[in-house]
Amino acid sequence: MTPCSSHKALNIVVLVSGRGTNLQAILDAQNAGTIQSRVTLVISNKEAAPALERAKACSVPTKVIMSKNRDPRGFFLELQDTVRAAKPDLIVLAGFMKILPPDFVKTFSNRIINIHPALLPNFPGLDAQGQAIAAGAKKTGCTVHVVDEGCDTGPIILQKTLEVLPNETRDHLAERLLPLEHQALIEAIQRIEAGKIKF
Ligand code: GRF
Repeated sequence: MTPCSSHKALNIVVLVSGRGTNLQAILDAQNAGTIQSRVTLVISNKEAAPALERAKACSVPTKVIMSKNRDPRGFFLELQDTVRAAKPDLIVLAGFMKILPPDFVKTFSNRIINIHPALLPNFPGLDAQGQAIAAGAKKTGCTVHVVDEGCDTGPIILQKTLEVLPNETRDHLAERLLPLEHQALIEAIQRIEAGKIKF
């Protein structure tokens, strides 16, 4: 989709815990002009998350808020204050391995989206790709959805489907799903920019 003047440039905060390929897809799209929005802050709950280096390489500010060995309430309050201070239009969970508490979700109601590597409502939670293989699913995919107070239960923005290959391993499937996740996330942001998603 080509950006046009009616599109809204969003101030995006991205929450990560690890590798950061979905974050990279957003950064690449903003650098290519495929989206108008800008990532203004990347927050990780893990100090060693490679996603932080990806952000720094694009001169995007980063913040680490460690969750390990910490009272979850204190962690989420600090996270909430940090996110609020960044005044985001949109918060993207891109491999953020924490379930947000109801207070956090309410504070940023309808402004949080998540990318999940399965066709929700199938295979919510951890290791969705492994769940799909274990269940013998013939097809799977990925979902971008609005985050509500449940685990991977919020309204679906869009999904992309992939056939599972015969005897496919969990890791092979996860690798094939990844580019689809990146496309889905960018398309979802484009739709939100264009005002096409009614929350
Ligand atoms: C992706 O599979 C995403 O769907 C899931 O966690 C993984 C994160 O990958 N929520 P990355 O850190 O974006 O590379």
